[in-house]
Amino acid sequence: MFNTSSLTGSKPEQYAQLLAQARALVQGERDRIANAANLSALIYHALPQLNWAGFYFYDGTELVVGPFQGLPACVRIPLHKGVCGAAASSRQTQRIDDVDAFPGHIACDSASRSELVVPLLHNGQLVGVLDIDSPVTARFDAEDQHGLEAIAQVFVESLA
Ligand code: SME
Repeated sequence: MFNTSSLTGSKPEQYAQLLAQARALVQGERDRIANAANLSALIYHALPQLNWAGFYFYDGTELVVGPFQGLPACVRIPLHKGVCGAAASSRQTQRIDDVDAFPGHIACDSASRSELVVPLLHNGQLVGVLDIDSPVTARFDAEDQHGLEAIAQVFVESLA
């Protein structure tokens, strides 16, 4: 259905294509598991140098792993722990060039070197986070951050 190897052009152009694919993928569907599953697969297979891409959902107390691609991961993350907890509690995207230098980083996959975590807010309420890991140090730049924040927003809007 989707040929994710077809991203072409500059990095912003590739993210625009990926965003259009993300919108098409969730169109007409509100189920958060379905949309998180498909968006995880889209991101993981479209972007190079990733070893984990997926969602954690906030259950009112802590983050609980949701649909993802990659190795099995930690199931529950308190809001005061890890890069995911920092993104959820601060409601700010965390772009970490070197996870070993991040106090409290949770190493679900020891191959992870850099990480980008986008908080998911729906009508001002914390829904969870979108977490992307890379085995390459400083894999994510500002263009990656903006591109993945836009895809996270597509997910949040699909819940409306
Ligand atoms: N590294 C994350 C934990 C989740 S895994 O990367 C999938 C963190 O420190 O919060």
